[in-house]
Amino acid sequence: MPQLKTPLIAPSILSADFARMGEEVEAVVRDGADWLHLDVMDGHFVPNMTFGPGMVAALRNRTDKPFDVHLMIEPADAFIEAFAKAGADHIHVHVENNPHVHRTLQHIRALGKKPGIAICPGTPPEALEYLLDLVDIILVMTVNPGFGGQKFLESQVPKIRKLRQMADATGRDIRIGVDGGIDLATAPLATGAGADMMVAGTSIYGQDDYAAAINSLRQVGSLS
Ligand code: DX5
Ligand code: ZN
Repeated sequence: MPQLKTPLIAPSILSADFARMGEEVEAVVRDGADWLHLDVMDGHFVPNMTFGPGMVAALRNRTDKPFDVHLMIEPADAFIEAFAKAGADHIHVHVENNPHVHRTLQHIRALGKKPGIAICPGTPPEALEYLLDLVDIILVMTVNPGFGGQKFLESQVPKIRKLRQMADATGRDIRIGVDGGIDLATAPLATGAGADMMVAGTSIYGQDDYAAAINSLRQVGSLS
């Protein structure tokens, strides 16, 4: 299936109030989120730490919306099953830290979850060439992973375009997500190049009115 004309919006709870996480999840769902993006960091693959499967499980009964779990951990393999059991619907692993990534993606599929592949800004799109048959989602990092609130790297726009062509050429239904620095100015650059899912932390949770933030992102990112 080609690119969705209306992009899916996935608020990243990294920028939410951690002391009120259940309410923060319910709030963005009420205000129009399509997916929830959950960033798992280990202080090793990325220079920051967040949470593990316990948080995913604790939030699971707050919504039926898909949990889009982004694993920034190394190694990831040992934790795939725990995140699947905790209630992840989509599990993204990085192409940069996994020498046997096909096995990991197959494992995610075998657990009944959607496999996603995340790609860092410095990694060329060709790194995904021989694994596109195994993924449902490509997560193009538009910042170096580790923190919210960073500046969108415009150098990634041609990469999004290239990956859209590669994904469409498979004839499979693959979503292309962008993650990092997405706001009202950068969203149209991402969707204009072929993204149809946008992760947004600061530009949603950093605003007072989540509904307005989500609607505006969706609107500026929509194709005519
Ligand atoms: C960064 C995370 C992102 C982050 C995006 O490593 O993967 O999901 O939450 O935050 P913003 O939208 O603030 O750039
Ligand atoms: Zn993320």
